[in-house]
Amino acid sequence: MDLYCVMGNPVEHSRSPWIHARFAELTGQTLHYGRRRIEFDGFAQGVAAFRADPAGTARGCNITVPFKFDAGDVAQHLSPRAALAEAVNTLSFRDDGVHGDNTDGVGLVNDIRHNAQVAIAGNDLLLIGAGGAAAGVLGPLLAAGPRRLVVANRTLTKAIALVQRHAPVALAHGATLEAQPLDTVAGRFDIVVNATASSLSGGSVPVAASVLRPGALAIDMMYGPAAAGFIDWARAHGAVPRDGLGMLVEQAAEAFALWRGVRPPAAQVLSELRAQLGG
Ligand code: ATR
Repeated sequence: MDLYCVMGNPVEHSRSPWIHARFAELTGQTLHYGRRRIEFDGFAQGVAAFRADPAGTARGCNITVPFKFDAGDVAQHLSPRAALAEAVNTLSFRDDGVHGDNTDGVGLVNDIRHNAQVAIAGNDLLLIGAGGAAAGVLGPLLAAGPRRLVVANRTLTKAIALVQRHAPVALAHGATLEAQPLDTVAGRFDIVVNATASSLSGGSVPVAASVLRPGALAIDMMYGPAAAGFIDWARAHGAVPRDGLGMLVEQAAEAFALWRGVRPPAAQVLSELRAQLGG
């Protein structure tokens, strides 16, 4: 049996095992996808234990908080998008070694394009936050060809560093890329992505509503109660709100395609998951 899993801490509430089991069912693939809670200082040992599992052959795993940075250290090969993000959310165990990739950004881009049906090319985009979550998606967002992309962060120096690292990607795709302080973001945007942890710490939305063009798409990368504050704020200010559930399913679909060579029906699985979660 081919084995996969999600590794994190905490990992108990991860939807990934259900999503991948459903992908496997719908594409006729035989595999088992579990979840493994990893000790905070034991990521490499956790990977080794999974690979020694006698139940089958470990083929790959997804990595969630807080191990996306550690995961790069166990990989012998890094995809360009994982190298740019400086974070890995997907490991593949192949004959020539461990491959690290990052499917978060493509997951967000595919959710915006295919599920929300909003174009990124030619549009103005605001990315709020400059931590790990923002770094994971910036490269693929730029590769989708926005006209202008502003990274706004409470700590401006972090936004500047992220923008500097991504300057060649912006140039290659003809996008204007800037860093701005969160409290004085200039301009209005067609797409606003919240990649901060502000809602988790109980804070309000850390940016003025004037950033939203009427009918703008406003996405929080989280879902469930963690996204509620941002969603209410977006709706109250005339934007189209969206949570991170679509990104979650789309990043999983990209990982599944990498591992199995088959693209699963992500939109169908997303609507099933929404129905299951009561939204
Ligand atoms: P993650 O991996 O989830 O991105 P992180 O790397 O700790 O976690 O980054 C958290 C992000 O949320 C950062 O952009 C952080 O801003 P700072 O760089 O200024 O710390 C942002 N953030 C967290 N709490 C916030 C708040 N209350 N208001 C605004 N931004 C906040």
